[in-house]
Amino acid sequence: MNSAPLTPKQRERILRAATSAPSKHNTQPWWFRWDGDDLEVHVDTNRTLELGDPACREAHIACGAAVFAARLGYASLGIGTETELLPDKEQPLFVARVRVTDAAADPRFETLYWSLPSRRTNRAPFKPTPVPTLVLEYLRDAARDEGTWLRIVEREPAYEHLLTLIREATGLEEEHLRTERARWIDPPDAVHRLDGVPGRSLGPLPENPTGAVRDLAVGHDVDGRGSIEFEQRPTIGVLETRDDDAAAWMTAGQALMRVLVTGTRYGVAASFANQPLENPDLRDEVASDAKHYGTAQMVLRLGMGVEVPPTPRRPLTEVLRLSQRA
Ligand SMILES: Cc1cc2nc3c(=O)[nH]c(=O)nc-3n(C[C@H](O)[C@H](O)[C@H](O)COP(=O)(O)O)c2cc1C
Repeated sequence: MNSAPLTPKQRERILRAATSAPSKHNTQPWWFRWDGDDLEVHVDTNRTLELGDPACREAHIACGAAVFAARLGYASLGIGTETELLPDKEQPLFVARVRVTDAAADPRFETLYWSLPSRRTNRAPFKPTPVPTLVLEYLRDAARDEGTWLRIVEREPAYEHLLTLIREATGLEEEHLRTERARWIDPPDAVHRLDGVPGRSLGPLPENPTGAVRDLAVGHDVDGRGSIEFEQRPTIGVLETRDDDAAAWMTAGQALMRVLVTGTRYGVAASFANQPLENPDLRDEVASDAKHYGTAQMVLRLGMGVEVPPTPRRPLTEVLRLSQRA
């Protein structure tokens, strides 16, 4: 391990990795603080969705994803880390400390780091080639290595049942949730914004809607957005955890990031169809009846991706707070 303190450039690299993580509607609901060379990760409740994510479950998932990405940043510098989740009972929003260890960096993490910049939520149609079975195995392994389960839903009747739940949840979505979302999706001030989902990242509308491609802009016209034929039967995965508390959501986030970056490495892209998880009556129906992993945290549409544009990120100066020791 590298025992010299991190240089400003190295810190920047780790923070850039962390903030490349996905977050619901690109809210980026996090802030960070250095404690020596360890990195603290906190939920920023000024950037969470009061109506769409009242328990901050998805904000925790985003922070978990940022934790995993930060670990890749450290690993790219040859530095091994371990994660301490929810390190302070008195501060529940202090969700993780990424701690530098004496152990060498995991070489698999060093490799994965290089796929971070090309990972994107991909709402475009996928290529007709299916995701290779071996790569699906790698994705399952990635989820398992982080203590979760990626259930690939392939067989009938489970596949159609899941799509039915997604469509049902879309139909049941209440107006106030759409109103809250509209502040983040193709916002009118998009050119000045460094958060939210710009129109160009929404992807075209499907001419043959199956439900698997979520239209985040329902009921709102997006300039220049056409419609196009999508793949008829995308691969769908459900990321599941055993528990359903803050620690489980953080675990889900780390696993999500590991799955997504592993996919990116092999050309596999993902978008999300989480509508039924946002509806308390439907969420339980999405989970498998597996004994150990039965709580659904994310619904992923997976396929071989084409290139899509990136979403913006806020500058590091906005997400970094001063060290308490400074
Ligand atoms: C917890 C969570 C929930 C999300 N839910 C959805 C969703 O239901 N539909 C969707 O299209 N994207 C969803 N996203 C993806 C975000 O919109 C995306 O991460 C964000 O816009 C940043 O873009 P990027 O992933 O390309 O960096 C979700 C992401 C996270 C972390």
